[in-house]
Amino acid sequence: MKKILIASLVTFSVGIGMVSEVLAQANPNQLVAQRKASMGLMHKYFNPSLAMVQGRAPYDAATLQRNAGYLAVLSQLPWDDFQPNTVGAANTRAKEDVYKDAAKFKAAGDALQVEVGKFVTATRGGDQAAVGAAVRGVGKACVSCHDASVTFDFRYKLD
Ligand code: HEC
Repeated sequence: MKKILIASLVTFSVGIGMVSEVLAQANPNQLVAQRKASMGLMHKYFNPSLAMVQGRAPYDAATLQRNAGYLAVLSQLPWDDFQPNTVGAANTRAKEDVYKDAAKFKAAGDALQVEVGKFVTATRGGDQAAVGAAVRGVGKACVSCHDASVTFDFRYKLD
């Protein structure tokens, strides 16, 4: 009986050790995959919104309001996946500048969230011109950060 208890205590503490190691040292490849997935989902809901306010797709106020709400959540997700242990990871196209000036990168992420907040507010008001301006504001925030921090060309045509 005693032996069984000791054995299960050992198993239990080894288990805890493994969990805290996972939390302390996230796998760089997983971090890169997660942040790219967050970025891809932002594109999924931003790009059609831009097409609507530019008259390239039929204007649909309800979809714009939904997209704004999704972006309000999605635009919070990528940032904690930008950890210094991802520098040099195989699949990243982030410049190292992201980590050299972490404050600047964070400010660009915060700026995006402010613009997304304006998009949410505009869709509640229902004024098409205001929604159009807010969507372009979000696009500018995406583009200006990409200009500074990615190694590939990723821009939206915003006029
Ligand atoms: C604060 C900086 C910043 C902002 C703001 C930002 N991005 Fe990014 N984005 C990045 C970085 C850095 C990468 C490269 C990630 C990597 O390869 O590790 C990236 C990559 C991407 C990618 C490519 C993902 C892939 O699978 O390779 C897409 C799509 C994207 N962003 C869309 C957006 C959209 C849409 C917005 C605005 C709604 C946005 N981003 C705002 C920094 C930003």
